[in-house]
Amino acid sequence: MRALSWHGVRDVRVDTVPDPTILEPTDAIIKVTSTAICGSDLHLYEVLAPFLDEGDILGHEPMGIVQEVGSEVRDIAPGDRVVVPFNISCGHCFMCHSGLMSQCETTQVHEYDTGAALLGYTKLYGQVPGGQAEFLRGPQAHYGPIKVPEGPGDDRFLFLSDVLPTAWQAVEYAQIPPGGSVAVLGLGPIGEMSCRIAQHRGAGTVIGIDLVPERLERARGHGVTTLDVSGDGATIPAAVRELTDGRGPDAVIDAVGMEAHGSPIGKLAQRLAGLLPDAAAQKLIMTAGVDRLAALHLAIDLVRRGGTVSVSGVYGGAADPMPMMQLFDKQVSLRMGQANVRRWVDDILPLLTDEDPLGVDSFATHHLPLAEAPRAYAIFQGKREGAFKIVLNP
Ligand SMILES: NC(=O)c1ccc[n+]([C@@H]2O[C@H](COP(=O)([O-])OP(=O)(O)OC[C@H]3O[C@@H](n4cnc5c(N)ncnc54)[C@H](O)[C@@H]3O)[C@@H](O)[C@H]2O)c1
Ligand SMILES: [Zn+2]
Ligand SMILES: [Zn+2]
Repeated sequence: MRALSWHGVRDVRVDTVPDPTILEPTDAIIKVTSTAICGSDLHLYEVLAPFLDEGDILGHEPMGIVQEVGSEVRDIAPGDRVVVPFNISCGHCFMCHSGLMSQCETTQVHEYDTGAALLGYTKLYGQVPGGQAEFLRGPQAHYGPIKVPEGPGDDRFLFLSDVLPTAWQAVEYAQIPPGGSVAVLGLGPIGEMSCRIAQHRGAGTVIGIDLVPERLERARGHGVTTLDVSGDGATIPAAVRELTDGRGPDAVIDAVGMEAHGSPIGKLAQRLAGLLPDAAAQKLIMTAGVDRLAALHLAIDLVRRGGTVSVSGVYGGAADPMPMMQLFDKQVSLRMGQANVRRWVDDILPLLTDEDPLGVDSFATHHLPLAEAPRAYAIFQGKREGAFKIVLNP
């Protein structure tokens, strides 16, 4: 089959590789019809390179048609249309029963002491071949894949794999009171969908902050009040306070993560990691501060006293300095983590209707053949050609 594989920093290629086969009785083979590129893939494209091997197949936002199932997979059958969650969870362990599917104890990666294995997401998360490919081996398929109805186009359901549950969890964890206020940092797919879900769930004031003009404009088109953080962003705190009774918003969602604009030291550490041999770079990333924390520090600064910071952006470094005094003094609640995809599916599915209240049908800006994936990564990273959410069709 053809698959998008990783060859080095900013070097991904579509290669011919062996077709996946059933390895465990809980596996399913899925013929991929749509598969999206995520902001999380951009971390693999560059910063997390030391945790990848040449030939790793990327992609964690796939859907398609079941081709074959292992002997223990009973809820889906060949021919079914399914969306595959990005985290691989068993459905029967303590964590899955607690609604923490991204911490699944059956698939946790003990070698790196990390949570549930993820599709196509480095050695840290199990080095499972990903879904930007013609076919996918879906592990834990007795539980994971979400059966969706025939009829509407793929985009109606595709974002259940990641964007929708991630944004839903970001809003849930933000604990915005009815009619309350939220500032969302980053208006990429995750941040923008978080704005839409916050509005849908009754937030009164939704402020979106980014530096890409088309992204700010797109969010404004959905009734979000936007602020431009390009340059040093020094005017942002005052502007946000002005919009929130001088107090700051009830909640701030960080939908940026470790590659934030405006953190020179983190950028330097990331460059340095890129120059070291893999083993040394892995150690640097896991023991030193390599994150660009501009967005997280801004979130802590913006949130009102007693408010909540909900972090959906991915961070990686282990020794990044945090403003503990400010966090403690302001009595900030901090929640974060990979989305527990299956936990939110029953809340979201009823919204994926012809009325399309969250606007999923028109969410993607690009639909490209798998063969164009290398170019798709380049324009998505460079935020060129209006690339906002790219769906590949193998
Ligand atoms: N928690 C999860 O389960 C989960 C799931 C998916 C994605 N993510 C993470 O969420 C983040 C966003 O993903 P995405 O797909 O929307 O990616 P993206 O890269 O398209 O979006 C990030 C946005 O942040 C903006 N930005 C950069 N620096 C900023 C700053 N200092 N202040 C404000 N905005 C800034 C960028 O211009 C961009 O629009 C990534 O870190 C990704 O890894 C987490
Ligand atoms: Zn993703
Ligand atoms: Zn589990």
